[in-house]
Amino acid sequence: MKITMIGTGYVGLVTGTCLAEVGNDVLCFDVDARKIAILDEGGVPIHEPGLATLIERNVVAGRLRFTTDAAAAVAHGALQFIAVGTPPDEDGSADMQYVLAAAREIGRRMTEFKIVVDKSTVPVGTADRVRAAIGEELRARGAATGFAVVSNPEFLKEGAAVDDFMKPDRIVVGADDERAIAAMRAVYAPFQRNHERVLVMDVRSAELTKYAANAMLATRISFMNELANLADALGADIEHVRQGIGSDPRIGWQFLYPGVGYGGSCFPKDVKALQHTATELGRPLRILNAVETANEAQKLRLVEKIVARLGENLAGRRFALWGLAFKPNTDDMRQAPSREIMAALVARGAGIVAYDPVAMLEAKRIYGDARWLAYAGSPMEAVAGADALVVVTEWKEFRSPDFEKIFRMLKMPLVFDGRNLYEPGLVRAAGLEYFSIGRR
Ligand SMILES: NC(=O)c1ccc[n+]([C@@H]2O[C@H](COP(=O)([O-])OP(=O)(O)OC[C@H]3O[C@@H](n4cnc5c(N)ncnc54)[C@H](O)[C@@H]3O)[C@@H](O)[C@H]2O)c1
Repeated sequence: MKITMIGTGYVGLVTGTCLAEVGNDVLCFDVDARKIAILDEGGVPIHEPGLATLIERNVVAGRLRFTTDAAAAVAHGALQFIAVGTPPDEDGSADMQYVLAAAREIGRRMTEFKIVVDKSTVPVGTADRVRAAIGEELRARGAATGFAVVSNPEFLKEGAAVDDFMKPDRIVVGADDERAIAAMRAVYAPFQRNHERVLVMDVRSAELTKYAANAMLATRISFMNELANLADALGADIEHVRQGIGSDPRIGWQFLYPGVGYGGSCFPKDVKALQHTATELGRPLRILNAVETANEAQKLRLVEKIVARLGENLAGRRFALWGLAFKPNTDDMRQAPSREIMAALVARGAGIVAYDPVAMLEAKRIYGDARWLAYAGSPMEAVAGADALVVVTEWKEFRSPDFEKIFRMLKMPLVFDGRNLYEPGLVRAAGLEYFSIGRR
């Protein structure tokens, strides 16, 4: 099949590449010429495990190409996937300008039947707006070309995006056009060879399903974070509690880890956007207000512990910070807790020496040459001479450090662990004072 991907970011690039991998002829389009130039030169603008090899293979095979040419993009695909960003607007609603610009681009240029697939996370009702925008553009030039609009929200996780796309739990297709449903089944047939994973539903339910999934996961995280704070106050250990409830199959193990709050490009904005929609309709989701408030507070939980130990004035202190990305296996720092933690420490006069296996380039892009932020070439280089170690992202390489070496290299023997990575007894045996989230 000929497929166009409009938007070549985390979702568009992974989706386009995986669709090429199973034999489709894919053209990825982006308005960001820098991204397309990197791809054309054989590079990859984001960090995503397994993606670079897959891109290279499909480019060499001639199934995957990149362009900034909108006319070529619209002409190419019978299916036009829209995978552009939907960042939060000032009022918390999803900013639809990029989705609608992509829709208009299609409407302005299409000359034959197209299936337009909303893959971006978009508020309920967006398919209607996309349909209206394309219709307006067609009418403006007196064209009567047919088209269908489908909602196909994406559930991949950054850091495991290729695997998630290749082996999806489910594929949600919201559509009412039989031709479009058949095409979507054909697109996804290679990804569900052992059992049917396509869930066909009406468009509005598909759009809501994506927000419902992220809101549910965010709720679990905030619930555990609040429970961990309570465990702190009660002298209980949240790790035991987590195991005690996770073993219940009705609850399950996923997304029960307390920490420094959720971040990233999806949960914060999707929770806000769903709240906004619900409030506008007079059906506020009270539970999500609590989820968000709890998360905002949680991002500073580790800083509270630092201040409780070292005092409000951190002037002259230097903190080794392990992890900048909002989670492991990605370079994405959008809404990352590391950013708020660093800001809170710096506001109290501290400096930071950070180490992250892949996100330091992104941090340099965000912070430029900020004087309060230095980068280390390894985790131990960050620790050398710092006042304390602060662990923010649970990268694998942080999981089993040499605590005795850390003790020797730190000025003060303090470890603040925002991800409960370590066995407290083991850390303390090395002479370190250990602070984590909700544990004895
Ligand atoms: N990142 C994730 O893990 C994830 C997972 C599921 C769903 N989503 C959703 O997918 C959508 C995309 O997210 P992302 O993380 O890939 O965003 P991103 O910012 O990485 O990529 C979006 C890309 O779209 C491009 N773009 C903007 N307007 C354009 C236009 N008119 N024409 C062509 N390209 C245009 C941008 O230049 C950018 O490269 C969002 O709605 C997001 O909520 C993201």
